[in-house]
Amino acid sequence: GTITFIEYDGTEHKVDIEPGQSLMRTAVNNNVPGIDGDCGGECACGTCHVILEGDWIKIAGSANSEELQMLDMTPERAENSRLACQITTSEDMDGMVARMPEFQM
Ligand code: FES
Repeated sequence: GTITFIEYDGTEHKVDIEPGQSLMRTAVNNNVPGIDGDCGGECACGTCHVILEGDWIKIAGSANSEELQMLDMTPERAENSRLACQITTSEDMDGMVARMPEFQM
């Protein structure tokens, strides 16, 4: 399956799901710009912020308190915001669309 990342300027990047890999790593491995993952997935930098489209937020699982705290400090936080390093991908996410905020251009 595939996940589509959409940059703030509308550029789309379709990448293959690597089950068990974090959504942040999946983006980095595929050179998707806008997902920096500066802290290496420690939930400490907020540079892997994505806004999931539609109902994907439900499939992605729930954010733990550490992530919610980090999201509180993240610019452009939306209701469907997640930190991509805290999402473990699976084939259930085939067709998922994740948008990047303007801040991460
Ligand atoms: Fe730093 Fe996700 S990579 S918070």
